[in-house]
Amino acid sequence: MDRIIINGGQPLSGTISISGSKNACLPIMAASILTDQNINLSNVPNLEDIKTMSKVLTSLDVEVDTSKANENKITLKYLNTGKSIAEYDLVRKMRASILVLGPLLARKRHASVSLPGGCAIGARPVDLHLNALAKLGAEFKLDRGYIECSAPKGLKGEEITFPTISVGATESLLMAATLAEGRTKLNNIAIEPEVIDLIHCLQSMGAKIEITDQRTVIIEGVKELFGTSHNIISDRIETLTYVIAGALTGENLKIENIQLEHVSNVLEIFKSLNIDFSFNNSSLNINKTKIFQGIELETREYPGFPTDMQAQLMVLLSKANSESVITENIFENRYMHVPELNRMGANISVEGKKAIIKPSEKLIGAEVMATDLRASVSLILAGLIAEGETVVNRVYHLDRGYEQVESKLKNVGAVIKRV
Ligand code: EPZ
Repeated sequence: MDRIIINGGQPLSGTISISGSKNACLPIMAASILTDQNINLSNVPNLEDIKTMSKVLTSLDVEVDTSKANENKITLKYLNTGKSIAEYDLVRKMRASILVLGPLLARKRHASVSLPGGCAIGARPVDLHLNALAKLGAEFKLDRGYIECSAPKGLKGEEITFPTISVGATESLLMAATLAEGRTKLNNIAIEPEVIDLIHCLQSMGAKIEITDQRTVIIEGVKELFGTSHNIISDRIETLTYVIAGALTGENLKIENIQLEHVSNVLEIFKSLNIDFSFNNSSLNINKTKIFQGIELETREYPGFPTDMQAQLMVLLSKANSESVITENIFENRYMHVPELNRMGANISVEGKKAIIKPSEKLIGAEVMATDLRASVSLILAGLIAEGETVVNRVYHLDRGYEQVESKLKNVGAVIKRV
């Protein structure tokens, strides 16, 4: 098991280049099942989760050409054979595997997908996906941990209102409805940039999708979809993670290949934290934040403050001059990084959905353990400013969502290595 060792206290100067968005790429890869023609993707991040999705799709007879993965390119082509079982040993590694369900139902009218099971940050059921797909005519039964589903008469368009906003369920229904018979209207959809990127890709494949108002979309079913080439959007969570790194210890740190329109909502909040940044169209310049006051903040669906940035922000807030309170509204158990940060000298307490972050004089390096993807990067951020050596264990969590994190940080002056 790899570990990452950091010696804190170094200023970060130079340029960090942002990779493509994992959470835009995963549903778009699943959408390859919706056509028999080539899907050529560029700006694909070279990450474990992308490799896992490639394996899931390969098991479903999608040809996935990863020979150019180191140029951040992959090509997918669905062979449309009989296979429609997404195996447990693959799905348990990544719950986003559930995203193959909608496309399989649309193309094969049946599918067997292992229930993804919980993960570190909560139960994460798939009821919103299944209840909405059932409204399009799909039938489900649970059999030995697999969701056996079928739509013998094919999927038929319907009006569906999501009881709560879900990124994954929105993506499942968008993909399934493209080939359903007739019109589907989805209300109360998620509008994260990753969902919009999926819509753009589906439209380029010939899908008839129209966003009619902020959280409503209409899909007119078509007979077939075609191949396309699509450039994945930049990763807004990676961007904001390195903005926090710059706010902690940057000296003219430059972050390039960003999409400002996807992070402007959070940059507005960062302004109230006195984060010293300037930007031009595709890059940001950040310097270490000097004095700033704590804030009260709640995680919300986009365009609110992203849950995927909650752990990273906590590290910065531990350097504030006054107390902060974060309320985590999206996941029920996303504070596992708190005990690890407290072992490094942070002063954070958790009361239900709220985390109270008191100012802490300084952080001291320690041996800590990563628990989920974003928690693990918060430990790296803490290591960058902690006194002495920090050892982060179980960095496979990190490799799921951050491309070459140690080399990107090393290139701008961090004393960091993987062992
Ligand atoms: C996506 O997960 C992202 N993953 C997550 O990023 C992100 O944290 C999350 O959206 C929220 O923004 C990918 O895009 C691959 P949801 P998803 O459905 O789709 C509950 C990362 O770090 N829910 O919007 O699973 C669910 O338990 C990952 O990259 C149901 O109850 O999120 C959660 O509490 C972590 N039933 C809430 O809704 C369902 O059927 C939001 O989940 C589905 C979800």
